[in-house]
Amino acid sequence: MGQAAINAAMAALVGFTAKLLIGQANFPTDIVEDDVSVDFIIVGSGSAGSPVAARLSENPAWEVLVLEAGGAPPAESRVPGMMLYSMPDYGRYGYNYRTTPQKYSQFNYVNNANLFPRGKLIGGSSAVNFMMYNRGNRYDYDRWAALGNNGWDYKTVLKYFKKSENYRGRITPENTAYHGVGGPMTVESKRYGTPLAKAYLDAGRELGYPSLDTNAASQMGFNTPDVTVKDGLRQSAAESFIKPNLHRRNLRIQSDSQVTKVLFDRNLRAIGVEYKHRNRVRRAYARKEVVLSAGAVDSPKLLLLSGVGPRQHLEALGIRTLVDLPGVGQNFQDHPSIFGICWNVPKGMATSFQRLLGPASKIEYITKRSGPLSAPFGMEGNAWVRLREGDPTFPDMQFLIASLSIGVDFGLLISPTVGFKREVYNDYFKPYQGQEGFNIGPMLTVPKSRGSITLRSNDPADPPLIDPNFLSHPDDVELFLEGVKFALAIGNTTVMRERIGARFNDRPVTGCKHLSYGSDDYWRCFIRRMASTTYHPAGTCKMAPESDPGSVVSSRLLVRGVSGLRVIDASIMPFITSGNTNAPSIMIGERGADFIKEDHGFI
Ligand SMILES: Cc1cc2nc3c(=O)[nH]c(=O)nc-3n(C[C@H](O)[C@H](O)[C@H](O)COP(=O)(O)OP(=O)(O)OC[C@H]3O[C@@H](n4cnc5c(N)ncnc54)[C@H](O)[C@@H]3O)c2cc1C
Ligand SMILES: *[C@@H]1O[C@H](CO)[C@@H](O)[C@H](O)[C@H]1NC(C)=O
Repeated sequence: MGQAAINAAMAALVGFTAKLLIGQANFPTDIVEDDVSVDFIIVGSGSAGSPVAARLSENPAWEVLVLEAGGAPPAESRVPGMMLYSMPDYGRYGYNYRTTPQKYSQFNYVNNANLFPRGKLIGGSSAVNFMMYNRGNRYDYDRWAALGNNGWDYKTVLKYFKKSENYRGRITPENTAYHGVGGPMTVESKRYGTPLAKAYLDAGRELGYPSLDTNAASQMGFNTPDVTVKDGLRQSAAESFIKPNLHRRNLRIQSDSQVTKVLFDRNLRAIGVEYKHRNRVRRAYARKEVVLSAGAVDSPKLLLLSGVGPRQHLEALGIRTLVDLPGVGQNFQDHPSIFGICWNVPKGMATSFQRLLGPASKIEYITKRSGPLSAPFGMEGNAWVRLREGDPTFPDMQFLIASLSIGVDFGLLISPTVGFKREVYNDYFKPYQGQEGFNIGPMLTVPKSRGSITLRSNDPADPPLIDPNFLSHPDDVELFLEGVKFALAIGNTTVMRERIGARFNDRPVTGCKHLSYGSDDYWRCFIRRMASTTYHPAGTCKMAPESDPGSVVSSRLLVRGVSGLRVIDASIMPFITSGNTNAPSIMIGERGADFIKEDHGFI
């Protein structure tokens, strides 16, 4: 059987099982008339677009239309334990993006590149992500404000994090001031963990780090992630913010509508969009504003297609330049991570597909919405630490423990999805295949390397060129070297060795065997070969004052050089946040919606 056939069979099985567990998922959508005219058009129903739609439609006098390229979410998108559902069938629920071949990293991956998933369905990437709810660090936001972006300091954005949130985790005297209750988006504690979840916290303590709620006063330490899950079902941003408000007559969402271009009048005011709905080209008009919430890959792509971007690049592709805005698509940041620092453990200590999909797990999920299917697959814990000199309250490294060995599925799905070359799988992972294990992935919280999004052609159907340019800055490799050593120390704690029985995979990795095993040069080689993405693209429509030549949007998220057009999503981050980017993207949606309300006199 070829990989495509394996993937199709897996996708069908997962879809069938999900319907048995929770029934059909539904998400009502509309079909709007040709040339419809509304007050606000929002492009994309993802993490940021969904709160924008919910908040703007609070004003009954404003008509709001959401245009979403993807379709309705399937049942399997709601079952947290099935979070990898979209991986085998990205053409269906995601953009089948790949990065460009990387020059400085990813040498052990097919084409030196990586699959670069983005959700293409209602809910966007929040409907395919791993559900960990992490806000980042207070300094992330204070630094945005210090660059001259008024209204983005931590004290201000905290209000918006709380406004979204319906927190059901453990409230203590220390964290109560940081959480919201009664907001549209439920955040729960994970309902299931393997023994590794607790062991990870104990390993942290052994190394001198506290376990704590890292979304509260201090981020520095170890935690078990809170998740965007409600009663054991995934809470995508659209489930939380749009679905409960669909009774509003002024809020409509039309799926299967890929926006291809923003339309401007002669004064460069955005007046609407052109989009493709089920293969027909149509238009929609906005009396007040067009909001791009298409994510950090597709928002810059849309600006470029619309003639807003670096003149040279646009001219080379035969696109007429409306505004020469050099920053569009630049300043690309992501959190690079190292895969393959892994340990084997005795049966029962980590995640296994048999337990996840076995009858006991299904019965527990159907009757109580708990057990392995109720929690994101294998995501046991995070840690944020500072390894270099500097502000001790601001981390430079995140560590994710995944209770998952790359070969637990005998190389069927995980390795081809992560994108390892077959010979790397055979050489490095296969000797342990079928065994349970865990991987500790160091991630650079704020890398120094910068990548870009550019167009391949002027055809909107073409995927853009995604170049993360990982590890192009040598400091990123040196910091990773510290990170690898720290990951090894976590795995070598007494807790991990004796209570869990962790055995390190000390096989020399493919491509680095000529170097003395365990030397700094060996690990530098390992880092460049095994680094990859954590799926957190950000920064490609940078928010900055006008004096910054890379500025794409103002602090009120208005696109420079035109009017009536904002970008509201992960692309506006001037620096990526020091943690996973879903919660910050939702906050950006909340924050942006308030700017719009203020600017149009509704508050
Ligand atoms: C596999 C994976 C795992 C992740 N795990 C986590 C995690 O555990 N925790 C975490 O915090 N973050 C995680 N992330 C990252 C997080 O989900 C994203 O940072 C966040 O969702 C980005 O929000 P956004 O609003 O910028 O974009 P998105 O949520 O991607 O929304 C963009 C929306 O716009 C639509 N769109 C795009 N182009 C067009 C167009 N031309 N016309 C119409 N619609 C369009 C898309 O279909 C999509 O619905 C993960 C991401 C992935 C892919
Ligand atoms: C693991 O820890 C033990 C005990 O502290 C130590 O003797 C050993 O050298 C460590 N191993 C590695 C690979 O660091």
